[in-house]
Amino acid sequence: MGGGNKDKLSTESYKGVRDLYPRDMFVQNYIFEVMRETAESFGFEEYSASILEPSDLYEAKTGEEIVAEQTYTFKDRGGRSVTLRPEMTPTVARMVASCRRDLAFPLRWYSIPNIFRYERPQRGRLREHWQLNVDLFGLDSTEADIEVISLAHKIMRNFGAHEEQFNIHINSKRLIDRIFGHFSLSEDEIRSVSKLIDKRNKMPSDEFSIKLKDVLGDKSEVADTLMAIVGENKVENLPESIQDSDELREVEKIMKGLGKLGISNTVFDFSIVRGFDYYTGVIFEIFDTGGENNRSLFGGGRYDDLMKVFGESRVPAVGFGMGDVTMRDFLTTYGLLPAYAPNVDLYLCTLDHEVEGAAQELGARLRESGVNVAIDFSGRRVGDQIKVANKKGIPFALFFGKNEMKSKTLKIKNLKSGKEADVKESDVAEFIRQEYA
Ligand code: HAM
Repeated sequence: MGGGNKDKLSTESYKGVRDLYPRDMFVQNYIFEVMRETAESFGFEEYSASILEPSDLYEAKTGEEIVAEQTYTFKDRGGRSVTLRPEMTPTVARMVASCRRDLAFPLRWYSIPNIFRYERPQRGRLREHWQLNVDLFGLDSTEADIEVISLAHKIMRNFGAHEEQFNIHINSKRLIDRIFGHFSLSEDEIRSVSKLIDKRNKMPSDEFSIKLKDVLGDKSEVADTLMAIVGENKVENLPESIQDSDELREVEKIMKGLGKLGISNTVFDFSIVRGFDYYTGVIFEIFDTGGENNRSLFGGGRYDDLMKVFGESRVPAVGFGMGDVTMRDFLTTYGLLPAYAPNVDLYLCTLDHEVEGAAQELGARLRESGVNVAIDFSGRRVGDQIKVANKKGIPFALFFGKNEMKSKTLKIKNLKSGKEADVKESDVAEFIRQEYA
């Protein structure tokens, strides 16, 4: 063999992605289960698609920052440019556009895809994450917006979060456009101001004000008004014509509708701009209100025109993307994750090499009765076998040696409570069921 250390491969995973060990998978599965069950309780159907997409899918509408700086793009062997999906929205829009005539609108669709973005890994930001995508196609009405936002709220509640632990920040792309239009900002100014507003929560007021004035040059009055709108977040600071606008009324209607459903942790927030070019109506982000993890957890909005990039006529749509990384941080912060419990019920300890064949047959019969059984063939001392079961969190152990092979009863132990019992083979499943209860 030979070869020194230099020939050894690193055991580290690729930067910014995670290896999911069984205990991580337990958490992941729990998170997905709550997402799935809640989405389905609102009548949403699951879909899926490949991770690979032709790169031009993202050029039309996914934000410039993501396409230029964050995509994993490569040429395949046939010379085509391929991208690992940096979000799911263009994919689902493509799927809907490709067979819209066969679909029964309105569509309520959800998926939990993995997403790749070349970002600087940090708390809450990785290069691969999973993202629940929930999208409602075919409805223009604010009821659809309310439905989708209330689904987001319900997922949080089903995770066990209290309303004081998170807030739903709501804004509107139409309202933002109206404000920018009011000040006659150029395309370039709009882009720079939007980017700055997006980072508003990450800097002190004075810094925001200086940067805003920088971007707007000689339009310092506009900067002052924008500062008052975004900085103080007060509707009264809006120009009068906008205070009386449909755009503002629409947001108020959504918030009122949510209130009627008993959802009161909503905040009108002008600093929510969302980084994608396809949003056309309401936009929202859910924030953790606590100090430790005070950040945006997930977000979404209405995008009525995305289908047009496929040459199709308009299909109104509203949805959101909820990431597993930020959710996991949130649930950990508030102690809302369930304790680890493996799927294995019983650890079958073999007390002698000679009984291993019979233990395997016993294991097969117990599985038929619905018990998940792992058999220890190590030949180690029984104490060591129990240690393995304990380390894995397996709740029950069964001891199987030459005597048990001959006798009519089996010795079973609840490793959590220490309770031991002699039971007939046909009663093992029932014993476990009762101990669980
Ligand atoms: P997004 O805000 O880019 O929206 O991502 C949605 C959520 O995915 C984020 O709020 C966060 O929870 C999670 N996320 C995004 N990037 C990362 C990352 N690098 N690491 C960990 N988590 C991340 C969208 O992607 C829209 N396509 C959502 C949407 C669906 N809008 C309408 N329908």
